[in-house]
Amino acid sequence: MDGSLPATATRAVGARGFGVYVHVPFCASRCGYCDFNTYTSAELGGGADRESYADTVLAELALAARVLGDTPPPRVDTVFVGGGTPTLLPADDLARILDGIDRTWGLAADAEVTTEANPESVTRESLKTLRAAGYTRISLGMQSAAPGVLAILDRRHSAGRATAAALEARDAGFDHVNLDLIYGTPGESADDFATSLDQVVAAGVDHVSAYALIVEDGTRLAARMRRGELPYPSDDVAADRYLAAEAALHAAGFSWYEVSNWARSEAARCRHNLLYWTGAHWWGLGPGAHSHVGGVRWWNVKHPTAYAKRLAAGESPGLAREVLTPDEAHMEDVMLRLRLASGLPLAALDDAGRAGAERARAAGLLDADRYAGGQAVLTLRGRLLADAVVRDLLP
Ligand SMILES: C[S@@+](CC[C@H](N)C(=O)[O-])C[C@H]1O[C@@H](n2cnc3c(N)ncnc32)[C@H](O)[C@@H]1O
Ligand code: SF4
Repeated sequence: MDGSLPATATRAVGARGFGVYVHVPFCASRCGYCDFNTYTSAELGGGADRESYADTVLAELALAARVLGDTPPPRVDTVFVGGGTPTLLPADDLARILDGIDRTWGLAADAEVTTEANPESVTRESLKTLRAAGYTRISLGMQSAAPGVLAILDRRHSAGRATAAALEARDAGFDHVNLDLIYGTPGESADDFATSLDQVVAAGVDHVSAYALIVEDGTRLAARMRRGELPYPSDDVAADRYLAAEAALHAAGFSWYEVSNWARSEAARCRHNLLYWTGAHWWGLGPGAHSHVGGVRWWNVKHPTAYAKRLAAGESPGLAREVLTPDEAHMEDVMLRLRLASGLPLAALDDAGRAGAERARAAGLLDADRYAGGQAVLTLRGRLLADAVVRDLLP
């Protein structure tokens, strides 16, 4: 695969927002619940070391610039550096990667530039360097404020470190700071989660993501549950925690804009994720990264060593691609848009889907007023049952 794209795809690039995702596949240790494409140093062989990683990503960027050639994006609206733990790279390397993106395609004047960060892997100095380099948003994995829950999740930071890092990020000049929470961990009490929410609010961040714990196959956590050392998460508890999150965050001035995401204002919403959820275009750099340009989706080889080898040989790291059929594109659109507070136009549904939407409205899962205005928007109860509502709207 030489990485070239059909002209129909590249011509579409200017029509919508354009984002760049950069995957950083390194972690100091692996959390027992996580199945992201990430590796500790002990798991990685040569050719994929952290020291040369920024250069490898920049080599992929140069290749991407050649692929888009005469039809470059008019500007880059959002950059999201995710992981893994991007902040295991020196802040100067993260600055160099951003500078490379700016030189290649040009960052919009108001571009949103996020990096994920583990609370224990940032310092006041590294945060200042990132801010000065043009990063505008930090997303910190807090997960919980309860020491016992952090221990079950195998987190390395202390209970207070995430909120302390959020305050340091704000001091360093970041207006936009997110804290990630995980709820429904075995052993987490309602009080533990209430404390996590209180601390998130007290930290003054403008964005919160709260995810129900997913037990991923092949993780240490899944093995412990299979052996009976830990109970499986309960759907009822997860629903109670979600309602607690909505109540506490709403009372503190946050509004949901996606089922798992709350922001204090429209400007605080994560524009990069919105770009994914509304089918815009993005180029994913790094091992295992996914891209979407003009209806063509592709993904890179997963292992950092294979990725580095391809680029060292001047080859595209792309592993495979697919062009979505209109039916697949419709399913994806319904699935993603229904999770947004802006909802989905009823006109986008076929007859069976509209009948499903009518059932969901009658059951109180879709907002009746918005429905009357032609839009399918989940109610609070609908948000708890979002997957079931989606299934009812699709063929
Ligand atoms: C890609 S991780 C990167 C964040 C960063 N490495 C950290 O852990 O601080 C992004 C977020 O996904 C969430 N996450 C990862 N695995 C999860 C799982 N199995 N269930 C629920 N949430 C998960 C966590 O909240 C995490 O902060
Ligand atoms: S949750 Fe974050 S720190 Fe933990 S293994 Fe996954 S990416 Fe790494």
